[in-house]
Amino acid sequence: MALNVVILAAGQGKRMHSALPKVLHPLAGRPLLAHVIATARELKPARICVVYGYGGEQVPDAVRGEGLVFVEQQPQLGTGHALKQALPHLDLRAGTLVLYGDVPLITAATLAALMAGQATRLKILTAELAEPRGYGRIVRNAKGAITAIVEEKDATPPQRRIREISTGIMLLPGKRLAGWLAKLSNRNAQREYYLTDVVALALKDRVTVESCAPRHDWEIIGVNSKQQLAELERTCQANTATRLLQAGVTLADPARIDVRGELRCGRDVSIDVNCVFEGVVEIGEGARIGANCVLRNTVIGAATRIEPFSMIDDAVIGERCRVGPYARIRPGTRLAQEVHIGNFVEVKASSVGAGSKANHLAYVGDSSVGRNVNIGAGTITCNYDGVNKHRTVIEDDVQIGSDVQLVAPVTVGAGATIGAGTTVWKDTPQGGLVVNPKAQQHRPDWKRPVKKNNPCAG
Ligand code: UD1
Ligand code: CA
Repeated sequence: MALNVVILAAGQGKRMHSALPKVLHPLAGRPLLAHVIATARELKPARICVVYGYGGEQVPDAVRGEGLVFVEQQPQLGTGHALKQALPHLDLRAGTLVLYGDVPLITAATLAALMAGQATRLKILTAELAEPRGYGRIVRNAKGAITAIVEEKDATPPQRRIREISTGIMLLPGKRLAGWLAKLSNRNAQREYYLTDVVALALKDRVTVESCAPRHDWEIIGVNSKQQLAELERTCQANTATRLLQAGVTLADPARIDVRGELRCGRDVSIDVNCVFEGVVEIGEGARIGANCVLRNTVIGAATRIEPFSMIDDAVIGERCRVGPYARIRPGTRLAQEVHIGNFVEVKASSVGAGSKANHLAYVGDSSVGRNVNIGAGTITCNYDGVNKHRTVIEDDVQIGSDVQLVAPVTVGAGATIGAGTTVWKDTPQGGLVVNPKAQQHRPDWKRPVKKNNPCAG
């Protein structure tokens, strides 16, 4: 469709009390502005223009991508002045849709409804709010036609009682845009060039001004404070939880899940309370995620169980595995099927073959572990010599007893058994038993020390 989208994102957001520009504050793990850009892209416009200013290049750097044009507004003299900066980049044969970088949950469906109908009109997205404070009010005449938008700071007491507000989002006809922007003045309470004043200019030009309502109230909520950001985060998470439930995912409590990115689930996935999903997480059919797990950029195979309090980062977990409770799986880990990783086991940059187990208190780092290997409690790979990292290779069917140190680089041959407490410095052959001879002594005449009267004690 021939359409220009301009996203206004130059403001500081004073009420956020933050060094970070307002539009870069994260909502569900992504900057506010990134949500608006993603929605704008769904409309397939000819171009998307982002007006930035406060925070400088930080804003474009955070969201850069194909088809985006960035225009700097310096200084920030109001929403009308902001749109004016974008004017040279717009195709004035088409309409211009104005979105706000701090109104992140607007949906493409609502915007499509706003854009339906005649392109020569000025269309404004308005909403009835129980608590309209802070928003521009929609003033209508006796016939119900819109006559003006009045900012809260300029409004008379009766106007402040109006509950219909401007969301700021509007569609402007291309033919009129340049003329109207040229005529905006800053004679108002905030000494700003208000974009909302185009309503009065449109009426002078006998252009029809129409309103349209959003599908849901939460779509038009702007973020001006940390309080509003926190509230919108909950709204956003509730929407995600609803989508998951509708897709057949079992959630122990839809109010206690946080998805900061994209969560894809197969059939019959079940997720217990207080789990956090970051980046792109994929969970296979029938998998179960226990309470209080954090999963980031991870694939979980079908029928796998992740037990409570596990943290999995940048890993691929195979089918029918059991991980946790209290497991830490770090980047670069690949578990094949039916692997068991138990409590207080850390795995990093390692592959573990099918059916292998490390059930308690172990560190497996920079390792290639074969199939059907058993790693005993307290076993660690010593992968770091203080300067470089080295790899450990454990071949198939190896049995490693408790409290073994594998000093990398080292290879344990297939089928070998490593006795408890062994330090493996050298590659071991296949099969057989590897131990470090240690003599066990018994000293029958040894006396346990007894507590003396301490002369220092008061
Ligand atoms: C604006 C509207 C108000 C509407 C409300 C909805 C005006 C004059 N007022 O008020 O009618 O009810 O939004 O949320 O338009 N921005 C710039 N450059 C500027 C000033 C602002 O890019 O010089 C951007 C901000 O980054 C923000 C958006 O425009 O994304 C809105 O600015 P803000 O100052 O929050 O306007 P409001 O007072 O909320
Ligand atoms: Ca605002």
